[in-house]
Amino acid sequence: MNDYQSVINWYPGHMAKARRQLQDEIRRIDLIIEICDARLPYSSRNPDLERLISGKRRLLFLNKSDLADPAMNSAWLRYYRSTGTDVHLTDAARIRGKETTGLIEKATRELVEKALAKGVRKTVRAMIVGIPNVGKSTLINRLNGRSVAQIGDRPGVTRSSQWVRISPYLELLDTPGLLWPRLEDQASARRLCYIGSVKDDVVDMADLTIRLLEDLCELVPDRVSERFHIQDTSLKGVELLDAVCAGRGWLLKGAQPDYDRCYSIVPDEFRAGKLGRITLEKPPAADKQEAEGDD
Ligand code: G4P
Repeated sequence: MNDYQSVINWYPGHMAKARRQLQDEIRRIDLIIEICDARLPYSSRNPDLERLISGKRRLLFLNKSDLADPAMNSAWLRYYRSTGTDVHLTDAARIRGKETTGLIEKATRELVEKALAKGVRKTVRAMIVGIPNVGKSTLINRLNGRSVAQIGDRPGVTRSSQWVRISPYLELLDTPGLLWPRLEDQASARRLCYIGSVKDDVVDMADLTIRLLEDLCELVPDRVSERFHIQDTSLKGVELLDAVCAGRGWLLKGAQPDYDRCYSIVPDEFRAGKLGRITLEKPPAADKQEAEGDD
């Protein structure tokens, strides 16, 4: 089996840079907006963020909630709220800037009111952070969409960092904080590959595709059967791959399975939600929860 944790080799440089950037900016930041992927609400969070931002106000967005299972979205919201986290479901590709600024204003109201009591109209400064591919840039662009006012470099801030005025008293750092993902166990590392948060060129795509298909067969067998035109969803390994290639007609001369086509299409279709809305991990004790209705 492929060792997915070995992909951590890709990260040290990024980790050091991200840590430096956060340390540089953190004093000026009032609110951290942490984005993770709603299909992987635990593993797509950075394991060290708590320590890195040391007690700063934080909003957690379970983004790409349009691709995650609605009942599991509710279950994860309930779970994180039970831990005292200010958490929301988002779809950064469609969210209106106004909705997000509303959440930011609510999360920082106390801070603003405290300053007002001292006669100061405080400008709130927010920064978006998260692991690769969770929708950080998309959200920044949605927020910027309304009024792109570049505020320019501030002393001491990395030259590439720009503050963008989102509303009269709200500024956002225009570069997101790139964080490293939770690669502490094989299952998390593998699922991070499924959602594209680890670059495909550092993993073995054959192994990734087989494991993804096997996991999907367990999670949503009927959808796999329908999408790939296969009868037996209990197949494993190369047999499963062969059935999928045959089912979808991905064949070379002599009816040989076209594996390369399979490796490039299957992960893409999963990532694009072609197999429907799927959440890859359950919140602790989700089995006991009634996962129903929107919170
Ligand atoms: P990042 O900065 O965290 O690395 O992520 P980025 O915003 O670049 O988003 C990664 C991909 O996820 C993009 O698709 C983006 O459109 C998509 N995306 C972001 N938020 C959402 C969401 O809430 N729902 C869905 N369904 N997709 C979302 P892409 O295919 O890589 O690029 P593009 O073709 O959309 O430009």
